[in-house]
Amino acid sequence: AKILVLHGPNLNLLGSREPEVYGRTTLADINATLSNRATEAGHALSWFQSNAEHELIGRVHQARDEQTALILINPGAFTHTSIALRDALAAVNIPFIELHLSNVHAREPFRHHSYLADLAVGVICGFGPDSYYLALEAGISRLDRAAP
Ligand code: DQA
Repeated sequence: AKILVLHGPNLNLLGSREPEVYGRTTLADINATLSNRATEAGHALSWFQSNAEHELIGRVHQARDEQTALILINPGAFTHTSIALRDALAAVNIPFIELHLSNVHAREPFRHHSYLADLAVGVICGFGPDSYYLALEAGISRLDRAAP
């Protein structure tokens, strides 16, 4: 099945951005690991990063046309601000897993609320790059259970 990984704003800077919070692994490393694992499990993974809300929304719309079965999304700060991204995910009706590198609940109060979480299949946060890998494993299990 097709899996899409979406990375929101500032995640292109992973590896150099506040390494004490987000670690030293780069986005390229994460994407490569995710792609390899998805392929090994018989799925096709693509990824997209943008700092622009409308581009992420456009990519969500495109995912429906491509018959994407599952989205993994780290919405970055749009988690806490974007009703528009929420509405896009609701509109396409593709199951999604929300994830964060950091434990947003242990950080500033403005990071405690997510506009997406109640629509998500589940939410994973606090494990650094492993949040992505755990989300993918959970997603693969779900896809494999749903497979005819
Ligand atoms: C983040 C957490 C958000 O609060 C923050 O704005 C980010 C990254 C994370 O992965 O921990 O950009 O989504």
